Amino acid sequence: MDRRVIVVANRLPVKWDSAATRWETSPGGLVSALTPILRASEGSWVGWSGVSDEEFEPFEHEGIEQVPIHLSDDQYRAFYVGFCNGTLWPLYHDAIRPPEFHRHTWRPYVEVNRIFADRTAEVATDDDIVWVQDYQLQLVPRMLREADVGHRIGFYLHIPFPPVELFSTLPWRAQVLNGLLGSDVIAFQSRSSRSNFARAARRLAGAEGSSSRLEYQGRTIELQVSPIGIDAEAFALLGNDRATRERAAQIRADLGDPEVVVLGVDRLDYTKGIDLRIKALETLLERRPDLVGKVAFVQVAVPSREDVEQYRIIREDIERLVGRVNGSFGEVGRPPIHYLHRSLPIEELAAYYRAADVMLVTPLRDGMNLVAKEYVAIHHRPPGVLVLSEFAGAAEQFGAALLVNPYDTDGLTSMLEWATRIDAEERSRRMRRLWRSVRDHDVFWWAERCLAPLRG
Ligand code: F6P
Repeated sequence: MDRRVIVVANRLPVKWDSAATRWETSPGGLVSALTPILRASEGSWVGWSGVSDEEFEPFEHEGIEQVPIHLSDDQYRAFYVGFCNGTLWPLYHDAIRPPEFHRHTWRPYVEVNRIFADRTAEVATDDDIVWVQDYQLQLVPRMLREADVGHRIGFYLHIPFPPVELFSTLPWRAQVLNGLLGSDVIAFQSRSSRSNFARAARRLAGAEGSSSRLEYQGRTIELQVSPIGIDAEAFALLGNDRATRERAAQIRADLGDPEVVVLGVDRLDYTKGIDLRIKALETLLERRPDLVGKVAFVQVAVPSREDVEQYRIIREDIERLVGRVNGSFGEVGRPPIHYLHRSLPIEELAAYYRAADVMLVTPLRDGMNLVAKEYVAIHHRPPGVLVLSEFAGAAEQFGAALLVNPYDTDGLTSMLEWATRIDAEERSRRMRRLWRSVRDHDVFWWAERCLAPLRG
């Protein structure tokens, strides 16, 4: 019998539907990968309920025990809006926006990590594997170790770990490192994140060892690189579905049957480089007026973290830019940019991927970027073109994409121009390699790779 796996994550894999008064499964690769593992091992998922005015007891959903954590409104603001998304998120993404360092949000971060650790200690037994997820919960591994909980403790960082020169500005860097080093295995999306962490642990916490194995306080901690994947076959099937293909044709017709459809799909986040991407498109239309009316750009911007000021600012910036480009280059009924500020159901998203000749994934920094992988799974046959930022974790696996520096507007513009006319043979050669990588390193491969050293 496999050891029980207890996943500890900021969010539960279910969402409370207050109108229907029931829990709905949140869609996503992580949930579909972990569901069979947790179900088979009779495991549990500990996570924030997402609801502040109601407290929930543990319950079973689709064969998995869900252990909801309740946070008050004040805790949500200080922990999630404040420390997670005002301090850690920008700091770990190359300080694209200045991280805020406030003692009054650090304290709630410790307090909420303690709530998660205590609740986990109540559910986990000594034989269980406890697998803690992401930057919101970096203190939990140490807290669990001190409480002597769990056979093995794993930690997975979904976002980048920054260079030590940036990380060292965090006033609570020692506590965060000590928290993470409470794990037996710490896994990262990319080699660069792993080596950044190893350097920080050696330089700032006195750990010793290499990028793959550290000695700290008499224990050995394994550092792993495990890039997360998607359910590749499921996406490929969806992309080939007749309904998807028909809807894709309809989307192209609605866009006025342009020669080239270019697509961007992102959470509306300042790390995603949506603004710079629009500037590159604007430059392209200035340079090549013959492309006006022939290239249609669709940007899907999924609303995100709207309680955080920087997210409200970037939304305004992007919407102003869209207006400027459409005002300069559009005709009535034919804007060059089609901007959708909403999330789309997966079937509709698949149709947009399928409709797009060129996919622009140009974050300024990104842990992985699963949109790039979803596009490849859906559009490898017939082959589309993926333009990908060098600064996305996916770039380490995707040497066959058209790699760009998203800060270089001229470079991005030239790459975009080339992407619109790349020859068929080169397009399919590149896509074949990308698809092999997505298919062979899917989310099931990822979960097994992360859990194998924890099974021990
Ligand atoms: O990529 C990191 C991450 O926290 C994901 O786990 C999550 O799906 C996404 O960002 C959105 O974040 P939030 O949970 O803050 O809405």
